Amino acid sequence: MTTTRNRVAVLHGVNFNILDRRDPEIYGGLSLHELEQKIEGWARQLGLEPIFFQTNAEGEFVEYLHRLPDLADAALVNAGAWSHYSRAIADALDIARLPAVEVHLSDVESRDDWRKDSVFDGLVLAKISGKGPDGYREALELLAREMGVTA
Ligand code: DQA
Repeated sequence: MTTTRNRVAVLHGVNFNILDRRDPEIYGGLSLHELEQKIEGWARQLGLEPIFFQTNAEGEFVEYLHRLPDLADAALVNAGAWSHYSRAIADALDIARLPAVEVHLSDVESRDDWRKDSVFDGLVLAKISGKGPDGYREALELLAREMGVTA
């Protein structure tokens, strides 16, 4: 019997629950729910099964990553500001040992200097930033290829 390994966890970190209250010039004005609906549609077109998680608590994010190998086969991570300084989250992603892609809605390279650093360097297949919601589609395509999933 073969089981399809097509589950992708889409993880959002701190401040994403209020995405629609953040600067629309930078983040596009979508709510997290609207963003997740887009991601869900793209994932299903690619033959992927998405599950969603968001928290503002760093420890909860870490604990979710601890459970991740039981829940998913790959991860798409936008950890918000934690991406730039949380070594604890980076360690937890490393422990999960799943193919992962880091995504940012905004172009982190052209904003404040502190946003240029990523704790996920060397842990993720790719870092996609500055493409808005379309960056998530690109990340899903990359993960589907990596997982050998075809729609
Ligand atoms: C972000 C970029 C981060 O620098 C910022 O702290 C966020 C959102 C993005 O998606 O563009 O919270 O991850």
